Amino acid sequence: MSNGLEQFKINTRIRENAEDLSAALQSHMLKVFAPDARKEMRRFSAGEAADMLGISGSFLRKLHFDEKIPDVESTSGGRRLYSATDLLDMRVILEKSAKTPGTYLRGRRDGDKVQVLSFLNFKGGSGKTTSAIHTAQRLALKGYRVLAVDIDPQASLTTLFGYRPELDFLESGTIYDAIRYEDPLPFSQIVQKTFFTGIDLAPGGLLLQEFEHETPQALRANIQPPFYARLATALQEVEADYDVIIFDCPPQLGYLTMSALCASTGVLITIVPNMLDVASMSQFLQMSADLLDVVSNAGANMEFDFLRFLINRYEPNDGPQQQVVAFLRQLFGGEVMISPMLKSTAISDAGLTQQTIYEVERSQFHRNTYDRALDSLNLVNDEIELLLQQAWGR
Ligand SMILES: Nc1ncnc2c1ncn2[C@@H]1O[C@H](COP(=O)(O)OP(=O)(O)OP(=O)(O)O)[C@@H](O)[C@H]1O
Ligand SMILES: [Mg+2]
Repeated sequence: MSNGLEQFKINTRIRENAEDLSAALQSHMLKVFAPDARKEMRRFSAGEAADMLGISGSFLRKLHFDEKIPDVESTSGGRRLYSATDLLDMRVILEKSAKTPGTYLRGRRDGDKVQVLSFLNFKGGSGKTTSAIHTAQRLALKGYRVLAVDIDPQASLTTLFGYRPELDFLESGTIYDAIRYEDPLPFSQIVQKTFFTGIDLAPGGLLLQEFEHETPQALRANIQPPFYARLATALQEVEADYDVIIFDCPPQLGYLTMSALCASTGVLITIVPNMLDVASMSQFLQMSADLLDVVSNAGANMEFDFLRFLINRYEPNDGPQQQVVAFLRQLFGGEVMISPMLKSTAISDAGLTQQTIYEVERSQFHRNTYDRALDSLNLVNDEIELLLQQAWGR
C-alpha cells in the first residue's frame, strides 16, 4: 500500500543535504565577506568612548582641549572617532594621574590570579556563544586582556572572529592540538591574534570531538595529566598574558566541558526562561554534580569564585517568562544575575552576518532596538566585570 511517500536511503539523503548546505554556506560567507578579507574593528563615537572609559563626555572634551590626550581621527563634520588602540593609550595616560590606582587599568595586579569563566549549559542554543563573545568584547573594550577559548567542535566562536575553522589552522593547530594525549603542541603555538583589539583566540574545530573519543583509552593507559586537568595545565604557559580567559563550551557534558570547568574560577549558566529549558537544566545540574564529584575525588580543583545563572532571550512583556524568572530568583536568589539578556532582533540580525552588537554600527538598526539590546548587554557584562573585581578582592 502506498502512503504517497517514496522510500530513500537515509545515508545518501543526508550526504546530499550536507553537500548542498555546505556549498550554500560557502557562497553566503563569500557574500558576507570576501575570502581573504579579515574582519575589521569599527571606530567609536565620543559618547561610546566616554562610556567605556567610565568618564563623562564633558571631561573627555576637556582632556582634548587641555591636550592631555593625543588627538584622534575625526569625521569631515568634526566628530571625533576613537579606535580601540586610542582608548587603550588614553587608559594608560589617565591611569598615571588617577586618584585611585586601577581606575582606568582595571586588570590583574601583582598577586591576582587570572579569572577563567566558562559559559555553560547542555541545552543547545541557550546563548553560550553569544554571551561569551559579547562578554569578551565588552571586557576588551574596557581595557582587559582577554583570551577567548573555543572548546566547541562546532567552532561557532572561532567563526564569529572571522576565521574558517576547517581551513585556517591546518598548520598552527587548534585547542585540540594543545590538549591531545599524543604529543600536544605548546599552547602559545595555537593562540591567534584577532581583529578585535585586546582579544586573542584559542580556536576550536571539529577535531575537538576526538578528545571525547580518545579520553577513555587515555584513562586506561593512565596518561598524565588526566582529561580534567589538561586545559588547566596547557593554559599555564600563557595565562600571565591575560586578565580574563573565557571558555565557550559545547552543548554537552563531555570530557571537554569537564576539563573547562576544572580550569575555571567562575561559571555562567545560560538559561532561556521557559519551563522546558528549566527542566532540562535540572537534569544538567544533577549530572554535572555527579561528574564533578567523580573528578573531585580524583583530585581535581573545585575552588570557584562564583556561579551565576544568566537569563537569555528575556521578553519583559511575556507573562509566563516572568513567572519562570521569578521562580528561578526565588530558588537561587543572588545566583541569578540581576540583569537578563533581552531577546532582541538586533542581536540575532547581527548574528546573521556573524557580528556582535559591539561590532555593528548603530545606524544599521532601528535606534530603539539597537539601544535596548546594547543597554542590556552592557548591564550584563558590567555585572560580570564586577564579579571579576570582587574575585580580586576590590
Ligand atoms: N538575546 C538574544 N536575542 C536574540 N537572539 C539571540 C539571543 N541570544 C542568542 N541569540 C541567537 O540564538 C542563536 C543561538 O545562540 P548561541 O549560538 O549563542 O547559543 P549556544 O548556546 O552557543 O548554542 P550551542 O549550544 O549550539 O553552542 C544564535 O543565532 C544567536 O544569534
Ligand atoms: Mg555555542
